Amino acid sequence: MRKMLSTTKQWLFLFAAVCLMMVIGYWVLGSEVKIAALKPITKLQHSATALEGSLLTVDNFDYEEQLVVLYNRVPKTGSTTFVNIAYDLCKRNRFHVLHINITANSHVLSLPNQVSFVRNVTKWHEMKPALYHGHVAYLDFSKFQIAHNPIYINIVRKPLDRLVSYYYFLRYGDNYRPNLVRKKAGNKITFDECVKLKQPDCDPKNMWLQIPFFCGHAAECWEPGSQWALDMAKTNLVNKYFLVGVTEQMEDFVDLLERSLPRMFHGFREYYQHSNKSNLRNTLNKRPPSETTVAAIMESKIWKMETELYEFALAQFEFTKRKLMQPDKKQIQRFMYEKVKPK
Ligand SMILES: *[C@@H]1O[C@H](CO)[C@@H](O)[C@H](O)[C@H]1NC(C)=O
Ligand SMILES: *[C@@H]1O[C@H](CO)[C@@H](O)[C@H](O)[C@H]1NC(C)=O
Ligand SMILES: *[C@@H]1O[C@H](CO)[C@@H](O)[C@H](O)[C@H]1NC(C)=O
Repeated sequence: MRKMLSTTKQWLFLFAAVCLMMVIGYWVLGSEVKIAALKPITKLQHSATALEGSLLTVDNFDYEEQLVVLYNRVPKTGSTTFVNIAYDLCKRNRFHVLHINITANSHVLSLPNQVSFVRNVTKWHEMKPALYHGHVAYLDFSKFQIAHNPIYINIVRKPLDRLVSYYYFLRYGDNYRPNLVRKKAGNKITFDECVKLKQPDCDPKNMWLQIPFFCGHAAECWEPGSQWALDMAKTNLVNKYFLVGVTEQMEDFVDLLERSLPRMFHGFREYYQHSNKSNLRNTLNKRPPSETTVAAIMESKIWKMETELYEFALAQFEFTKRKLMQPDKKQIQRFMYEKVKPK
């Protein structure tokens, strides 16, 4: 009996020892397993802190000092007037104005230049806040892995007015650079005569410019008469543009910009009103077209489509202006938060 007990004790001891070894074994092995399992977790935790970090930087994004406004101006829409105010006030308001010069006056950027331009504008912090301007078609920054898109603005003009202005500008220049000899200097044919003679300079196809500027870099945008291009131009005008003004209402355009983005446009309205530069750059020797000419141009499909875009832009601009005020038209609209819960 005693012997049996001692053997049982021995067995128990052996059993305990085996158990202990197994526990130690599992612990060692298990810890390895744990370490292995921990690796991706630490990675996960790491990326979680990175995410928090990037969220923090997004939160800290200084919308005022990082402001980039892109004005892809259409030739002969009164754009120089606006840009001149910016050049006059940029020092006082502490922002930069930069002209985008594309070789051969192309309105479409090559694919490599699209990448360079988009990255350069985005990363060039020394220039911010910045107003970029140039005769370039709308370019969608969000296609280029860019975190912050610029704010697009533009001004449109009645298509025939713009064409007539451009026609005489090429022949006589303007009071801005009166001594510069223009492409068609010496050509004395009036716009009316040009239309009668069906010369290429007054071809309604030349009016196909505001639509492609708003439409953008797609091939179809540059097909005169394309319904798709007109639809895209309208869509971009309301979805991708911050504000589009009209030449005939420059002061209201400047006023809306100043109220919305004062960091850059502070004082623009007053400067526009009082500066004797405000109506600078009038095309010289411009003659209004005759009724016959107007009637002939209005027959063209291009004029009708470009006018449709102009009127669409005008309606949007009027709407934006109206919404600035309360319905009584006496007070400016205000907004606030209330019923904030929990306290
Ligand atoms: C753009 O650059 C070219 C080449 O340097 C120059 O000849 C041209 O005058 C510039 N255009 C404007 C509008 O300054
Ligand atoms: C942007 O381009 C200009 C002109 O080429 C250059 O001087 C500048 O360093 C560029 N900025 C960045 C951030 O790449
Ligand atoms: C414009 O106004 C400035 C003063 O504000 C004056 O010195 C200048 O002569 C004026 N220029 C013209 C063309 O009237």
